[in-house]
Amino acid sequence: MNFLIATVLGYLLGSIPFGLLLTRAVGIDIRAVGSGNIGATNVLRTGNRWLAAATLLLDAGKGAAAVLLARYFLVPGAEPLQAEFIVYGAGIGAFFGHVFPVWLGFKGGKGVATYIGVLLAWNWVVGLIFCAVWLLIAVARRFSSLAALTAAATAPVFAYALAGTDMQGFTFAAACALLSFVLYFKHWQNIRRLWNGTEPKIGSEKPKA
Ligand code: G3P
Repeated sequence: MNFLIATVLGYLLGSIPFGLLLTRAVGIDIRAVGSGNIGATNVLRTGNRWLAAATLLLDAGKGAAAVLLARYFLVPGAEPLQAEFIVYGAGIGAFFGHVFPVWLGFKGGKGVATYIGVLLAWNWVVGLIFCAVWLLIAVARRFSSLAALTAAATAPVFAYALAGTDMQGFTFAAACALLSFVLYFKHWQNIRRLWNGTEPKIGSEKPKA
């Protein structure tokens, strides 16, 4: 039962479209800008760095909050295996809420910031490695999508290798693999543009095709 509560509450928290709400507050329809995505990378294309940073923090924060709230309120008293699944349910729920929000006809963001927040709360070491890989590729190649795709590809490997005592390596890696798979699915247009050489660099204008 607590698994279900964690997953549903995680989904509801994750489905708050901060990028859309923040840009709407300053009179911009983010879905008519750049890639049309509601994430921080696209909010940056409005030219407002503060709004992009706030979107990044809030989208990551809601993912982390879903896991931490579940761990604090729903895990105490649960069996070890149940506890593990409550924490996974909350994080996966939040990620799916961001990517497929019921309020936006299931057309949400691409999930990168929320993945980071969930991962930091699941296991902060693996979360920090995700951020480090993202940063490394972003600085080296200046493509936000390529940085996210690379970090997402490595996350299940690091999850398996570095799972703590409260999370089994295989289930942790499987949970990460699920999020990474959905993230790749949501980035298929970015992958096509990276392949064609038309993907815009970080902070530059809208995608060409
Ligand atoms: O965080 C999403 C990023 O990886 C790609 O965003 O707007 O360039 O499609 P965008």
